[in-house]
Amino acid sequence: MIIGSKIFFIKNLSSTNTYATLLLKNSDVPEGSVVYTNFQTSGKGQKGNRWESEDGKNLLISIILFPSMINPSDQFYISMAISLGICDFLKRYIPVCAIKWPNDIYVGNDKIAGILIENSIMGGLIENSVAGIGLNINQDKFLSDAPNPVSLRMITGKDFDLKTCLKQLISDLDKRYKQLIAGELIHIKEDYVTLLFRLNRWYSFRDSNGIYTGRIISVTDFGRLQIEQENGKTNEYTFKEVDFIL
Ligand code: BTN
Repeated sequence: MIIGSKIFFIKNLSSTNTYATLLLKNSDVPEGSVVYTNFQTSGKGQKGNRWESEDGKNLLISIILFPSMINPSDQFYISMAISLGICDFLKRYIPVCAIKWPNDIYVGNDKIAGILIENSIMGGLIENSVAGIGLNINQDKFLSDAPNPVSLRMITGKDFDLKTCLKQLISDLDKRYKQLIAGELIHIKEDYVTLLFRLNRWYSFRDSNGIYTGRIISVTDFGRLQIEQENGKTNEYTFKEVDFIL
């Protein structure tokens, strides 16, 4: 196994991503090392947001990767592989989940997991990558103003053993990472697109020109979202350029 080759468990941390970045600076940490905590005092989310997670209720991990075989222009494939690993894990317990582009994991219209990937690119290569995952397992009340959090417990009414879940998640992520390093990019992209939230159906989206009706058709290798408009024209967006109207 690559992912899970070493596990660093620290009860409380500011952020597993921050700790993983420190490990990378100060030691020869092996590829696939996982930093795991029960509680973060400054859990980082996308767009500068905080990540809420009650002490000991959810999975909060960061994985250290050295994906030097991935061209920086293909770095979105790392994000696709991690998203798929999380969905593979969730499918052990629930029938469906989806990936809201670029990498939020959804069940119905609610968000069950978030991913924050921080890549360091040097001399035209991805030197290292820290893939942070917050996956809601047993929490049943969320206090922040995040619009739509949900957990496995809220969906199934059951409590889960976090250690078992961690093992399973690591194994599912490891399989997807191995596909990535074996160069199975077409396979990864196919699986990712198939799981896209709101794929191929007409919904409302908002971009800099206002609200319009469109349907998601795919993503580019750079990770741009492709939405077809009713007039047949296709728009392409980078992160933050388009909002889903939920
Ligand atoms: C998002 O906003 O959707 C991304 C959330 C990512 C949260 C995880 S929790 C573990 C890791 N450490 C962090 O500080 N953030 C990520």
